[in-house]
Amino acid sequence: MEGLNLLHMAENITVRKQIKRGYEEQAPFDSKEFRTANRISLDVTYMFDAPGDGSIKRETVESLIPEVMKAHQMLRDKQGDIYDGDTPMTGWQDLPFEITGEHLRDIKSVTRALSKKIDAFVSIGIGGSFLGIEATFRALTHQYFNQLDRKKRGGAPEIYFLGYNMDPDFFRDTLDLLEGKRVAINVISKSGRTTETAIAFRILQDLMDKNWGDKTRELILVTTDRVRGALKTMAADKGYCSFVIPDDIGGRYSVLTDVGLVGLAMANIDIEEFAAGFRNMREIALGDDFWKNPSLVHAAMRHAAWKAGKKVEVVATNAVSFYAVARWMEQLFPESEGHEGHGLWVSPSLYSEKLHANGQMVQQGERNILETFLMLKEHDNRVEIPATQDNLDGLNFLADNSMDMNFINRKVIEGPAYAHYDGGVPNMTVELPRRNAFNLGQLYYMMERSVAISGYLLGHNPFIQPGVEAYKRAMFALIGKPGFEEIAREIGQRLEKMERIRIR
Ligand code: PA5
Repeated sequence: MEGLNLLHMAENITVRKQIKRGYEEQAPFDSKEFRTANRISLDVTYMFDAPGDGSIKRETVESLIPEVMKAHQMLRDKQGDIYDGDTPMTGWQDLPFEITGEHLRDIKSVTRALSKKIDAFVSIGIGGSFLGIEATFRALTHQYFNQLDRKKRGGAPEIYFLGYNMDPDFFRDTLDLLEGKRVAINVISKSGRTTETAIAFRILQDLMDKNWGDKTRELILVTTDRVRGALKTMAADKGYCSFVIPDDIGGRYSVLTDVGLVGLAMANIDIEEFAAGFRNMREIALGDDFWKNPSLVHAAMRHAAWKAGKKVEVVATNAVSFYAVARWMEQLFPESEGHEGHGLWVSPSLYSEKLHANGQMVQQGERNILETFLMLKEHDNRVEIPATQDNLDGLNFLADNSMDMNFINRKVIEGPAYAHYDGGVPNMTVELPRRNAFNLGQLYYMMERSVAISGYLLGHNPFIQPGVEAYKRAMFALIGKPGFEEIAREIGQRLEKMERIRIR
């Protein structure tokens, strides 16, 4: 039997875009036309007056506006509860204007030179040192990127992620895919002491050293704090090329810093266009007209929902490529809002998949849910639906009316948006016109500003994560890390007094 022939299927545009990014001139992104065609919108029609208890009134949101505007002003002026130690953690806010073209070009020249020497690139990090890079990479590239031949990847190496879990099977499986390949790594950690990252790094560094000795130096990139930390010292000692995470930018707000830029440049993602997206949304998000500012409206809607008793925010997308973006939001919001008993639990979802699972709960379960859709308007590819002779599934009308998968995939959001609203779930839709770096940059800035405003509304600092630090301490104690003996003793004593209840 011969292999499958794709017959009349058109060329895959995602692949074409990858080839273009890798081998051709940069696509223009600074014109007015481009900006107009790539304007993100936020539709809040279904936020108000959903049937049943806990519905949100437009008057409630209107009454929040003075508080939101005050927060908006304070954030712009860098006032309020925004410090981590002595540092105001608002560096991300003006970063889109501070990051220079020269810096972006430098990153590109390092990654381009390294890319030529390797077959695979591993980005090592967790939380803010992982999710933004992964989200952007998945949003903009072929879903089976590493399985494509290199030419179709636009000349980019294979891209892998490690250090975001401690699963030895996953780690070992990933190593199998790296076997026999020339590998480079970028270890990313602001603190330089995150266990998962440090362990993944150590194992790879050891393997690389044993394989390539001195040459390894050229194959390890380090992205960390400007002056402090173990990684900084190691990079200086070993002569690794190092990149900086600015003091005043926390992990989950760092995708436009070297944290995100290096890995994205390695995948040939246009980091200049990405930065331009941030710049564009910064201009919009710093505006003072509430109803024209998606960051402010988004923050107010979520706050009103939380006050109306919503506990869960389902962030659902109709694009497989954007699922990782929903996962980025799963970090940005809860890690920033989940303090002092506050905050919405963010549940990333891919529709249609989840419509056949917890979609039942969204429609008819406990009415404590808010829903935010990330709708991709125009997919890269058009996939037509053929007619069949017997029309057993009754779907020939789709083919007869030239309705392709794109058309139906839009309804995968529009249908649930209406039905869930009708079932008592207020919802809003963020529409991204296309899969490009500009739109991702815009979305990230919009969300970063929204969650920062939310911190002011909730009355706590959205730039720290003492809860995450608590788990890190407990884990250090439990693995017996020197310096954590006291905590280990405390944990041991408490556990001794607790009755173990284990059912076998
Ligand atoms: O948003 C944050 O600050 C966290 O999620 C951190 O990014 C995460 O804990 C990783 O920390 P580090 O970069 O210090 O290894």
